Amino acid sequence: MIVATPDEMAALGARLAAQLRAGDLVALNGELGAGKTTLTRGLGEALGVRGAVTSPTFVLARTHPRAEGAPLVHVDAYRLRNAVELDDLDIDFETSIVVVEWGAGLLDGITDDWLELDIVRPVGGVETEDGVEPRTVTVTGHGERWADLSWLS
Ligand SMILES: Nc1ncnc2c1ncn2[C@@H]1O[C@H](COP(=O)(O)OP(=O)(O)OP(=O)(O)O)[C@@H](O)[C@H]1O
Ligand SMILES: [Mg+2]
Repeated sequence: MIVATPDEMAALGARLAAQLRAGDLVALNGELGAGKTTLTRGLGEALGVRGAVTSPTFVLARTHPRAEGAPLVHVDAYRLRNAVELDDLDIDFETSIVVVEWGAGLLDGITDDWLELDIVRPVGGVETEDGVEPRTVTVTGHGERWADLSWLS
């Protein structure tokens, strides 16, 4: 799908949030500045998490509690080299909603079920003066939990 603006990216995060429950794992892939944190911000706002969702680059994982419902754990795996290190973070996957930026390849073996979003900045894309430029987002469901992606359309 084409996501034209940062607001639309946040709205996609909000749509995704409506599907999420404890135990869910979402991997966001895409180069620097692709829009992973922008999507997670919309997701976090829709979940009503406490604390602003910002780029967690200098902490590997940040937990955002909610008044009700599973907390959002926002992981930046940029400096995590492999799934063993993700495991070392001691995240309680069962009771949390986990969103991992730079999750590509990290989640194999950790779980059978996860949702993967690949965000791509089109080569030669035209950026407006305020830096807005369409992104292409591909959503892939892994495992039984995400076999049905009809909520996306
Ligand atoms: N269509 C779009 N969707 C999302 N973000 C966009 C779009 N067009 C422009 N942007 C801008 O691109 C930037 C995306 O930054 P963001 O921090 O979300 O990326 P990121 O993938 O998390 O990067 P990093 O790898 O550094 O964590 C923001 O400044 C945002 O305003
Ligand atoms: Mg980011």
